[in-house]
Amino acid sequence: MEALGALGALGAGAALLLGLYALLYYYLGVATRCRNAVSLRGKTVLITGGNAGIGKATAVNLARRGARVVLACRDKARGESAVYDIRRESGNSEVILMILDLGSLNSVRAFAQSFLESEPRLDILINNAGVLKDGQTSDGFDQAFQVNHLAHFLLTHLLLDRLKRCAPSRIVILSSSAHMYGKIDFRTFNKPTKCLIKGGQSYANSKLANMLHARELAKRLEGTNVTCYAVHPGIVKTEIARSYPWWSLWLVWFVRLFIRNSEAGAQTSIYCATEEGIERLSGRYFVDCRAKVPSPQACDDQLAKKLWEFSERLLGLTS
Ligand SMILES: NC(=O)c1ccc[n+]([C@@H]2O[C@H](COP(=O)([O-])OP(=O)(O)OC[C@H]3O[C@@H](n4cnc5c(N)ncnc54)[C@H](OP(=O)(O)O)[C@@H]3O)[C@@H](O)[C@H]2O)c1
Ligand SMILES: *[C@@H]1O[C@H](CO)[C@@H](O)[C@H](O)[C@H]1NC(C)=O
Repeated sequence: MEALGALGALGAGAALLLGLYALLYYYLGVATRCRNAVSLRGKTVLITGGNAGIGKATAVNLARRGARVVLACRDKARGESAVYDIRRESGNSEVILMILDLGSLNSVRAFAQSFLESEPRLDILINNAGVLKDGQTSDGFDQAFQVNHLAHFLLTHLLLDRLKRCAPSRIVILSSSAHMYGKIDFRTFNKPTKCLIKGGQSYANSKLANMLHARELAKRLEGTNVTCYAVHPGIVKTEIARSYPWWSLWLVWFVRLFIRNSEAGAQTSIYCATEEGIERLSGRYFVDCRAKVPSPQACDDQLAKKLWEFSERLLGLTS
């Protein structure tokens, strides 16, 4: 009888461990790696914010595949040190730095011009840089709105002809599952926020804008062999929450149990940049290397079109 009880306890213990393991396996993304061995020899990749976090891990992987990798970073010293690391880790010396500050639309225009002058190709554009903070940019817009959405919208616009000429080519847009908390109110959406809590809301709004950008862009790119994808990388331990005080991060300490490292967090970006045969899923949302249905707002074609026209107006672009 007693032996049976002990056996039962052992069984329950084993089941618990197995369950925990499955949970960790799932959350750490071990199960959802990009498994293809697609070579990128002869191709050029541009990654915004490639000097840290998910962007840097993505750059290492794509450089290993033989791509020429251009990092578009705002800080020269951080950018140069990342170039050094990425060259060393990938064994590929064709990794270069160009300066781009998404908080300045003039910087975006100057960057695009010098990129187009110095680089003959663009095969993969990864709109990766992002901020989670309050305050305003030098153009007077909200930080998250401009850095995460508007500046990337402009960058994509300025580089689109080059992408078309190099087709089949791809655009990967880093969004977030936080898009589901986003709201787009065209009266307030671009106005600077003044505290971190509101900054959190405007981050979610900007990530919804990323989803809608990908959706409308895919539509406009039909028939060009240029495709685009929106990505949620998972919850990843990076510097994204650096503006928040340490104690507020303690409030979400339990999330850290399930947090991924940047290398695991880069897998879906890498997948969308390289996987063959996903072109028919252009404009869709990818999580853990699979297409996923996003929040209803992110599927609103009318809203996507309105946001596109709103962004064009702010940038003085005419279509
Ligand atoms: N981490 C997560 O859990 C998570 C979850 C969902 C989505 N995401 C998304 O993943 C993307 C990458 O974020 P991450 O987690 O890797 O964050 P990160 O470690 O903070 O990296 C962000 C990158 O963006 C760059 N950046 C910020 N502002 C810029 C500007 N004005 N101009 C040019 N570059 C700028 C940063 O450069 P500096 O080093 O110079 O600041 C850095 O290279 C973001 O779009 C984020 O929204 C992350
Ligand atoms: C797109 O790719 C297909 C298949 O390679 C090709 O037949 C077609 O001409 C391409 N279209 C454009 C606009 O480049």
